[in-house]
Amino acid sequence: MAIKKKTIRSSQGMPGEKVRILIPRQRIHRRIQELAKQIRADFPEEPLLLVGVLKGAVFFLSDLARGIPGEVSLDFIAVSSYGKDTRSSGQVRLTKDLDASIEGRTVIVVEDILDTGMTLQYLLRILEQRKPKHLRVAVLLDKPERRIASVHAEYVGFSIPNEFVVGFGLDYAERYRNLQGVGVLILRPPDKANKPGD
Ligand code: PRP
Repeated sequence: MAIKKKTIRSSQGMPGEKVRILIPRQRIHRRIQELAKQIRADFPEEPLLLVGVLKGAVFFLSDLARGIPGEVSLDFIAVSSYGKDTRSSGQVRLTKDLDASIEGRTVIVVEDILDTGMTLQYLLRILEQRKPKHLRVAVLLDKPERRIASVHAEYVGFSIPNEFVVGFGLDYAERYRNLQGVGVLILRPPDKANKPGD
């Protein structure tokens, strides 16, 4: 779904940081409900296991899970990349595994954002080896311009341009995850950050 830029708003963050709201909360909630219905329509009879990728996916997972009628279970997995810049080298490792087996189950991996795709490529490789009945991917945000790995998500909330986004689970230095919408983080140089009238 294409998105339009919205209002400019001061951030809750540090001096020199502002957030331009890109996708307001109501729009996100509406879209998540559509994705939830679509997932249930694709698997009308199946118990579903949603696998959230910590930490960014927690808000998306929470709304998505509650929007899907019928039997839904949750599990969580966490990965670490050796810094964003090295992700393209495939340096992703598991830091928290799932609590239970996924063999024979219908699994939806839930991510906040699909960027280079290196994280998802790694996750799909290890989860596929565990022989789920179905393995699908739901992402709230997709940045197709950034893709390096050849992966895609079956369920995409919004395709967004290549800008640094925060909110609804996405962070900058662990802050902004609790913003209700998704916004573009605008960083200003330190010499301009504390001028009167800001
Ligand atoms: C983010 C996001 C994905 C990954 C996507 O995680 O949650 O897991 O990056 O990037 P990629 O497509 O380039 O691999 P991050 O490492 O920022 O951790 P977080 O979820 O704890 O914020």
